[in-house]
Amino acid sequence: MEIPMIDLSELDGENRSETMALLHHACEKWGCFKIKNHGVDPELMEKVKHFVNTHYEENLKASFYESETAKCLENANGAASDLDWECTFFIWHCPKSNIEDFPNLSNDLRKTMDEYIAQLIKLAEKLSELMCENLGIDKDHIKKAFSGKNGPSVGTKVAKYPECPYPERVRGLREHTDAGGIILLLQDDQVPGLEFLHDGQWVPIPPSKNNTIFVNTGDQLEVLSNGHYKSVWHRVLAVESGSRLSVATFYNPAGDAVISPAPKLLYPEKYTFAEYLKLYATTKFQEKEPRFESMKNMMSNGCD
Ligand SMILES: [Fe+2]
Repeated sequence: MEIPMIDLSELDGENRSETMALLHHACEKWGCFKIKNHGVDPELMEKVKHFVNTHYEENLKASFYESETAKCLENANGAASDLDWECTFFIWHCPKSNIEDFPNLSNDLRKTMDEYIAQLIKLAEKLSELMCENLGIDKDHIKKAFSGKNGPSVGTKVAKYPECPYPERVRGLREHTDAGGIILLLQDDQVPGLEFLHDGQWVPIPPSKNNTIFVNTGDQLEVLSNGHYKSVWHRVLAVESGSRLSVATFYNPAGDAVISPAPKLLYPEKYTFAEYLKLYATTKFQEKEPRFESMKNMMSNGCD
């Protein structure tokens, strides 16, 4: 079982329709995929990883191993089911940055993160437009739906999953689906741990080589797409050797964004079967989808 890899450079060439179809398949069946040739500067990605790792080593690592989490795990009798073995902080970028609230971050990390996020927002919006195209809705539908008064929310969970002396007792991060929209993950190129559920089986997501970005979709995209696209269960295993880097950027609805399924993706409703049969009589040997569209139009005209 191989996670789909989408090569965004193929969108400009003769393989566009196959690439779009693969993206649609990934969103429908996997809820996650990898992307390459995504336009984010690889040097910048390397710098983000380097400065986050440095920040962890210099500012967070020692205190993590002295934290309540570490003590609880050491004293746990068997599995510690209410703990996550992770060391994280969360930065907001949009609508308003709070990066100044983290005085410990080096200027290098701040500056690199700002440049990286500017590129990542463009990528998230490009992906949102491609998803809209595949869903057959206006290309800016997701962006508009996610926008409150001041546009979509964008934030980054910066995490390390430290080497764990008792990996059998705890998860790095317990099983969950993501609440929001489109999640872009810059992750470790050496240390594994991330897993996604697919067809009832946990599929390991290997470390990201060659600056591929890993993408998954959250609960709001499932609702907006009326269930066509799925938010999928995932988790992080604790590992005994190596500490895993994870920089996950969330392109999410604003807090005041009102979420609903895109009307175009809804079935027709509130008609009598007799009304349906009347249309069916003249369209029986045609595709059903245009018939559903006609029913929707008839019912909305009837309500005016
Ligand atoms: Fe998650």
